[in-house]
Amino acid sequence: MSQIILVLGASGQIGGELTQKLRTIYGSTHVIASDIRNGDSLLMCSGPFEIIDATDKEAILAVVKKYGVTQIYLLAAMLSATGEKYPKKAWDLNMTSLLAVLDIAKEKYISQVYWPSSIAAFGPTSPKINTPQKTIMEPSTVYGISKISGEFWCNYYHEKYDVDVRSLRYPGIISWKTKPGGGTTDYAVDIFFKAVEQGSFECFLREDTRLPMMYMEDAVNATIQIMQATPEDITIRTSYNLSAMDITPKELAEEIKQTIPNFTINYRPDSRQKIADSWPQSIDDTKARKDWNWSHKFTISSMAKDILKNLQAQKVKN
Ligand code: SER
Repeated sequence: MSQIILVLGASGQIGGELTQKLRTIYGSTHVIASDIRNGDSLLMCSGPFEIIDATDKEAILAVVKKYGVTQIYLLAAMLSATGEKYPKKAWDLNMTSLLAVLDIAKEKYISQVYWPSSIAAFGPTSPKINTPQKTIMEPSTVYGISKISGEFWCNYYHEKYDVDVRSLRYPGIISWKTKPGGGTTDYAVDIFFKAVEQGSFECFLREDTRLPMMYMEDAVNATIQIMQATPEDITIRTSYNLSAMDITPKELAEEIKQTIPNFTINYRPDSRQKIADSWPQSIDDTKARKDWNWSHKFTISSMAKDILKNLQAQKVKN
């Protein structure tokens, strides 16, 4: 059956690039982008676009019926740092949207759901190195609480109502086309923009803060790959650990200096340091690699070169 896909949160960091990739695979008219506000011209012009508040089940359902949607990718969310400023809003957005989409699947309007969890579902009491798939999970941020709760809701809807929902625990996602907003891992995106624009960067995390990260292209591929896997291969219905690299700000700065030798960085840790310190430093994703053949392509070095090449070309064009 050919899929008709709805992406909720398509103007965001992951949603934008995911939508474009899905449009190349499934055809642009088969992928409906949506967000609470208009997106950039590429998103709006490359296929159908609908304004949807992801917490409004009836609004989602209306679009599902209008296009005959078969799959929803739910990417709308409030990230960790903003979530600490607006705890109730973060909980409301992250949970209401998930339950709305799961209910639409339970009512059989759609056959498949994608929803991302995060390394934020772990907490200060989780093992920090090679954090296992199954371990202590006591998150200390509202974002993390919404992710661990969401994971159990996904599993519950799968067990109880046979909903085919699939999920990945994303590490920090590094991109250059769209910037993230309100996350703790965002420094790893900003550093590239500042390196190209100004040659210097002030980092809000300590130089030795090691966190799991992944280049956007790998994250988008993993997302589509888990959705295309045969259902029997998906043995985890909470969310899969997913990993590519683990890096510190200092290591990333060294990598940038390979291309921009005069690049300088200084460190001024703020409240986000505490969030970062509560998360794993590296992730064991053996289960994803075994169950549905996950493998990443980009290393810190190939990623940095690719981003800097693109941002420098963009600067010359502007
Ligand atoms: N990138 C997210 C954040 O920093 C973690 O999933 O909030």
